[in-house]
Amino acid sequence: MAERARVAVVISGEGSNMAALLYASRLPDAAFDIVLVASNNPQAPGLALAEAEGVPTWSQSHKGLSREAFDDALHAALAAAQPDAVALAGYMRLLTPAFVQRWRGRLLNIHPSLLPNYRGLDTYARALEAGDTHAGCTVHLVTEEVDAGEILGQVAVAIRPGDTPDTLAARVRLAEHQLYPATLATYVSRHHDAGWIERQVDALAAALPEVSRKTSHGSPGWAVGTEKSAKLFAIIADRHHGEEAIGLLVKASGADEMTGLIEARPDTYYWPKYYGASGWLGFKLNRPDTDWDEVGEWLQRSWRAVAPPRLTKLMRAADQF
Ligand code: GAR
Repeated sequence: MAERARVAVVISGEGSNMAALLYASRLPDAAFDIVLVASNNPQAPGLALAEAEGVPTWSQSHKGLSREAFDDALHAALAAAQPDAVALAGYMRLLTPAFVQRWRGRLLNIHPSLLPNYRGLDTYARALEAGDTHAGCTVHLVTEEVDAGEILGQVAVAIRPGDTPDTLAARVRLAEHQLYPATLATYVSRHHDAGWIERQVDALAAALPEVSRKTSHGSPGWAVGTEKSAKLFAIIADRHHGEEAIGLLVKASGADEMTGLIEARPDTYYWPKYYGASGWLGFKLNRPDTDWDEVGEWLQRSWRAVAPPRLTKLMRAADQF
């Protein structure tokens, strides 16, 4: 069983979504633990529940503080808990761009509408007024623009005759309690998903000149050159020959460099069975803390090692600028 991700939850009020996340985390095969519940409202009922369940809490009223000062304090409390992801669950304040940037890619929110419909407040009344057949809820990544980040999951909820904002909210809440734990679990586990890993590598590799997809003994690979001359510069080895790693195989300069890197950073580098002997270095990708910039650098280096001179010359020329 893979290690559980560390999740902090930020609330302002009731905290029923926080409770749904917390009890989901108590299932035997849960993908995450709740390591902190934080709030801008020391009286939030959700804080008392978290405390009763033995979850560390942090709260500080935002009153009298500038938005920047409060977000700095929230950031410090979250950072101390070292979460892999932060789940906003009924957090009713706007966040500063600086805060959002610090948690980019690790900050999720649940919103009570089928985004992109009805960003902001009063979502139920607006859906009812519009005569919609369905309301719903969305879990999305948080970006500077409110309720506009990448959508990770949605559940539609039928609107019934006679629904009021309150009756509708109660049913949407039930859907939220299903959606949030499941979507968060998938998100924090994405680095174990070979398909997700392949898409990340593909996006980085596609940014290099004259790259095409190729397979190597059935594994996804990337090659440089014309159709006739294409040479592999990267391969994904998905737990080959009993290895634990979903690894990216790239061209190092030789066995000395490989052994040096593997000794210095055994969490990152490994000697891939069979491939190692022909100069392929393994870079482990199924880790929560993969540095994708570093993966991009290796792809570029490996590309240079096998690309024909007419292409590497162009690259060197580009380096001059
Ligand atoms: C939830 O319905 C959530 O979607 C909504 O507040 C409620 C909090 O309930 N969030 C927003 O409207 C964010 N703009 P909870 O405290 O019981 O989880």
